[in-house]
Amino acid sequence: MKIGIIGTGAIGQAFAKQAAKAGYEVIISNSRGAESLKETAKAIGGKTTAGTVEDAGKADVIFLAVPWKHLEAAISGVKSWKGKIVIDPTNPIITPGFHLADLKGLTSTEVVAGLVPGASVVKGFNTLQPGTLASDPRQGGGHRVIFYAGNDDEAKATVSGIIDRMGFAGIDLGRLDEGGKLSQFPGGPLPTLNLIKL
Ligand SMILES: NC(=O)c1ccc[n+]([C@@H]2O[C@H](COP(=O)([O-])OP(=O)(O)OC[C@H]3O[C@@H](n4cnc5c(N)ncnc54)[C@H](OP(=O)(O)O)[C@@H]3O)[C@@H](O)[C@H]2O)c1
Repeated sequence: MKIGIIGTGAIGQAFAKQAAKAGYEVIISNSRGAESLKETAKAIGGKTTAGTVEDAGKADVIFLAVPWKHLEAAISGVKSWKGKIVIDPTNPIITPGFHLADLKGLTSTEVVAGLVPGASVVKGFNTLQPGTLASDPRQGGGHRVIFYAGNDDEAKATVSGIIDRMGFAGIDLGRLDEGGKLSQFPGGPLPTLNLIKL
């Protein structure tokens, strides 16, 4: 399975490291092109290559890790979202100033889902700091918890498999309108909790 990363900053790199360690083929991207990420790909290691947003968008699973204000620009770099599984670790914060985006009564991942027609979107990997996400998920005889939520059970099963293979313990929070709310930052009770499942 190929995993494309759109937005290779703090969270994108943390996820990429875990995906590469788990043996996935990873394609990292940003707005500046493959050349700007060659060294980063080397540092991440495993089967990681640098590509364009379009290249990352051709993967089976796409990790969309850009700041909220850049979502639409990033998404426009992918020709078709049909049949893709998108993991959404974004938080609906507009910087500078730390303003909450206007979600029009939806959860943030429902808004993201509206931007990628034909894709199945699973919220996840948004509740931990990048350093924690990048560190060994096997701790104290247990596994660090990753929360996820989504409306498509098949897509959630795929994401759950990725979480397991990385060595985390996945906890399914349900649909986006319920579980998505619990893990949403700011507002939900789960962000910043660093839990180990024994
Ligand atoms: N940092 C945290 O503690 C944390 C925790 C949980 C969730 N999150 C969420 O994760 C997302 C990413 O946060 P981050 O901290 O990783 O941000 P970051 O370090 O600023 O990285 C953002 C990445 O997105 C890329 N990018 C920006 N515009 C793009 C575009 N149009 N097309 C493709 N790539 C683009 C940037 O590269 P270029 O500018 O070079 O293109 C950069 O690689 C945010 O939504 C944030 O709310 C962050």
